[in-house]
Amino acid sequence: MKILVTGKGGREHALITALSESPQKHDLFVYPGSDAIATMATRVDVAGLPELITWMTQNGIDLCVAGEEALLVKDTGLSNLCSEAGIPCWGPRKEIAQLEASKTFAKKFLKRHGIPTADFTICTNAAEAKAALTEMPIVLKFDGLAAGKGVAVCTAKDEAEAFVDEVMEKRCFGAGDLLVEKCLIGPEISIFVSVCDESYQILMPARDYKRIRDNDQGPNTGGMGAVASLELAEPELMQRIEHEIVQPTVQGILKDGLKYRGFLYFGLMLTSTGPQVIEYNCRFGDPEAEAVLPMLRGDFATYALEAAKGNLQPDLIQFAPGWSICLISASAGYPASSRNGDVISGLETVSGARIYHCGTKRNSSGQFETNGGRVLAVVAQGATRVEAREKAYVESAKITFDGLQRRSDIGKMHFE
Ligand code: AMP
Ligand code: GLY
Repeated sequence: MKILVTGKGGREHALITALSESPQKHDLFVYPGSDAIATMATRVDVAGLPELITWMTQNGIDLCVAGEEALLVKDTGLSNLCSEAGIPCWGPRKEIAQLEASKTFAKKFLKRHGIPTADFTICTNAAEAKAALTEMPIVLKFDGLAAGKGVAVCTAKDEAEAFVDEVMEKRCFGAGDLLVEKCLIGPEISIFVSVCDESYQILMPARDYKRIRDNDQGPNTGGMGAVASLELAEPELMQRIEHEIVQPTVQGILKDGLKYRGFLYFGLMLTSTGPQVIEYNCRFGDPEAEAVLPMLRGDFATYALEAAKGNLQPDLIQFAPGWSICLISASAGYPASSRNGDVISGLETVSGARIYHCGTKRNSSGQFETNGGRVLAVVAQGATRVEAREKAYVESAKITFDGLQRRSDIGKMHFE
């Protein structure tokens, strides 16, 4: 089978690795990919989405797997265009990918279907947003894609007002509404579900660490590490999540006359009154994918193909027992900025852990160097959380580059 994955980061590196570990060998392609992913999949070099669809048709691609979200809502939508071209796509159509692309769409969906989520006000200008700052702490969310940076959890009013000015006056993320949302308290969990029309399968849960520094200090990032295990949530909690959140979401999509095929990521807050939805993402999490996918067993390629065709077969995959821990190494300046061009050393000395490249490129001497905010994910597994954590830190420490930032409490904080 010929499979093309869209995206270029650590999640896509992990997805392509998992596809390559399916029992049969498949021809793997990636768009746009990265120098590191190019060692396992052929990069497709085309100008944009319409050209990609033409390329897939001409080259007989059997399955398209959506890694990152951007193409799902670009132009007519990756999945919509694949469908017109007769190419099965594991990734949702543009109409329902709004669950991620538009936070107001998601909030209205949650409310309409009675799914637990924080109370909110949708504000169209700075004055409205400032008037809605009636309690602290408060959460402000830009309604659009902002690479994980459009959300501010504010404890003080002047901080909240400054964020409102950045987003609604200076328009640092472009045009869009601002959601002012009640702040929920509790641990977070990421739930991944394969949704295929009216069928679904809940995958291994994970937890990510969004703040840049230890003890959840500093600004939010795309994710500085992740922990995954079937033991992460008790069966009773998973049942509650399934009944109160996953089932009503799957049914809500159908009630709205839409269909969803692909990974659906539920970002949940486990509050004292029960789990509540913080966000939906129409893809796998990053860096959660890097932690979860090494635990996947079975035939992922056939699973994704069948599910993309409307035939979800849960028995085709299983998840290993134990724990998986992913540590992100980020570049200097992240998340406010990122520094490119710092040469990475020690990659070849890592053993007993997987390395997924999030933001690297090869320089003219063939060495990998930083090329983005999140640079590398080092992932290790163990029978226990402590074992996985130790392995991940030992292996990750072998990698260095100037300005490297790495949290030291991944897999520890929230557990001890
Ligand atoms: P989002 O992009 O909506 O996932 O938000 C990013 C992060 O902001 C979440 O992972 C939470 O850590 C935090 N957050 C978002 N919404 C809330 C909320 N209502 N209450 C508390 N924290 C939140
Ligand atoms: N781990 C957060 C995200 O993928 O959005």
